[in-house]
Amino acid sequence: MKKVLLLVAVLFTTMITLQNCQHDIPEPDDDDPNTTITPVTKSDKCNLDTVYFVNDILPIILGNCAISGCHDAGTGLGGVVLESYDDIIKYGEIEPGDPGKSELYELITSSDPTEVMPPPPNELTTEQINGIRIWINQGAKNNECEDICDTSASTFSGHVWPIFLSTCTSCHRSGNSQGGVLLSNYTEIKENIDNGKIQGALSRTNPKTAMPPQGPLEECADALIRIWISEGAKNN
Ligand code: HEC
Repeated sequence: MKKVLLLVAVLFTTMITLQNCQHDIPEPDDDDPNTTITPVTKSDKCNLDTVYFVNDILPIILGNCAISGCHDAGTGLGGVVLESYDDIIKYGEIEPGDPGKSELYELITSSDPTEVMPPPPNELTTEQINGIRIWINQGAKNNECEDICDTSASTFSGHVWPIFLSTCTSCHRSGNSQGGVLLSNYTEIKENIDNGKIQGALSRTNPKTAMPPQGPLEECADALIRIWISEGAKNN
């Protein structure tokens, strides 16, 4: 009798297991070293309209959620770890393209103080929440961008003029020639290269005439202008 019972039990377990195997979508197993890791898609130009996971979203989550005592791997509060893309998608129950159906988005936007994450008074800022919403809307991709500085060539029209136009000309054109300096076309810029004023202003050695006043140019822009000057500041 005992043997028969055992056999029935074994058959029953096997049936359940088989059924599970047929119907269950396999869950990624954290302990399985072969669990696939979603690769990062890297682009060498940052598109202003795109929210990038590695650049924009991961720092928000690491700084506010995956912290010690909360959702770092060491603590894993509530069994939830939010340290990587795959963790965030899985435990945050992210539905790409649909913030409203994504658990993480619901929690960070909850108006219920007992539910909202991170708990008060550490809620995310509106800007951070908007970033996460746009990222989910854009497909919640594991993406990253890096503006690579290409210094292989620097011409006036292709590189230098766009920098002047976006960072200098507003204060240095007719009608608003601050410091009596005009920089609204090649001739005016060349004149202030030849008299050394632009080089002086960009070197920022004199705080009074350090340009642009709001802070140094980005490294890449600065490098492109230097190369162009060193090659004769041509109208090319
Ligand atoms: C927000 C306005 C503003 C912007 C933007 C700006 N400047 Fe100026 N610039 C000034 C003012 C004001 C002065 C006069 C400073 C003084 O002499 O006190 C000045 C002076 C200068 C001078 C003369 C410095 C000298 O030695 O007398 C140069 C050259 C110059 N700017 C270049 C630039 C360049 C190049 C950029 C862009 C990278 C730039 N500026 C962006 C406001 C601006």
